[in-house]
Amino acid sequence: MVRKKRSLILCSAFVFVAWNALLLLYFWGRPPIGHLGESAGEVIRLAEEVEIQLETQKKLLEQIESHRAPVHSVAPVIIPVLVIACDRVTVKRSLDRLIQYRPSPGLYPIIVSQDCAHTETARVINSYGDQVTHIKQPDLSDIRVRPEHRKFQGYYKIARHYRWALNQVFNTFSQSTVVIVEDDLEVAPDFFEYFRALYPILRSDPTLWCVSAWNDNGRDALVDSSKAGLLYRTDFFPGLGWMLLKELWNELEPKWPSAFWDDWMRQPEQRKDRSCIRPEISRTITFGRKGVSLGQFFDQYLRYIKLNTEFVPFTKHNLSYLLKDKYDKKFIKEVYSAPLMKIEDLQKGSSLRGPGPYRVQYSSRDGFKVFARNLGVMDDLKSGVPRTGYRGVVCFLYRGQRVFLAPPEGWIQYDISWS
Ligand SMILES: *[C@@H]1O[C@H](CO)[C@@H](O)[C@H](O)[C@H]1NC(C)=O
Repeated sequence: MVRKKRSLILCSAFVFVAWNALLLLYFWGRPPIGHLGESAGEVIRLAEEVEIQLETQKKLLEQIESHRAPVHSVAPVIIPVLVIACDRVTVKRSLDRLIQYRPSPGLYPIIVSQDCAHTETARVINSYGDQVTHIKQPDLSDIRVRPEHRKFQGYYKIARHYRWALNQVFNTFSQSTVVIVEDDLEVAPDFFEYFRALYPILRSDPTLWCVSAWNDNGRDALVDSSKAGLLYRTDFFPGLGWMLLKELWNELEPKWPSAFWDDWMRQPEQRKDRSCIRPEISRTITFGRKGVSLGQFFDQYLRYIKLNTEFVPFTKHNLSYLLKDKYDKKFIKEVYSAPLMKIEDLQKGSSLRGPGPYRVQYSSRDGFKVFARNLGVMDDLKSGVPRTGYRGVVCFLYRGQRVFLAPPEGWIQYDISWS
């Protein structure tokens, strides 16, 4: 990019010099004024000609100047989108939205990685022509698994596919970051804007390891529709439309698991106390039912997740409040200054004064699960971390009131035996 600009400048400078030389030759070649008794009109015409030449030169100089400026600024980072596909022709729905909302094919190349060699799906992907890059996972062999894992073959193939596809993005295509989506995700209008705005935050905060478009508790009734621009940190790895940097891939790739890669990432050995950014209102929803695992889970929860519709100009927002030091101070103050309520009080609603926020405290695994179920949020924990949790706190709307489901003040760490 920079090299291209530099050669452009050189080229313009050359044209400029050559132009001057030609002009000089041109005027030298003319008979001197007055020698042959030229009229005053001729002199004026010549003066006008010189003026036009000067004007042209000025424009040329301005052009050179305008090409010079970007050399000193940083070119915007390319954020490729990797679409993981297999045998679902409905990948069309993902690709249609991605292409519809993509502001620039150059800044957001779409790479569709296809496993499974499903002819019909390949045809759908190919129909997009050069709007996407279609790559195919070459190893279609069955994976040897222990007998009791035979029913999990699909999970093994997914993990193998992820490893291959991410190696393609980072090593073959030499990208520095990527956003991963699967073939059953539909994205929101500000999906690209969201990741572009958060890229520098992810880059600058070593306590972050991902940016996700997904809110696990993003059901309509649990989110504040008036706060489409609201973002959080979370200790729970959400996946489902997420960005990572090449540095993280270099760290994870050598030990990438043979199956269940997402829960593996949630283990403390991988997460290393790092967090992700997630939105109040999801920038992806999943529409797939046919899948390795999702059937029942989809019917119970996923189908009710609300997809954001309002474009939020995140790149114009000051998002530095998400950096750990600033965020934690404010977050802890906000959570623990909220009045502590009994869950019955929230459910009755009559004793609530003011708009909240309110706090409900849990101090055991079972306590968390009972409260979560009663308040309508996800009750499962992975490596001790509740979905959307940050420092143990789950934050959502309950009957229009902001609620923090929180451990006692002074929280230090997760208990990985809670699952
Ligand atoms: C962004 O906000 C922070 C305070 O959270 C402030 O210190 C910083 O100067 C702001 N940056 C810009 C570019 O306005």
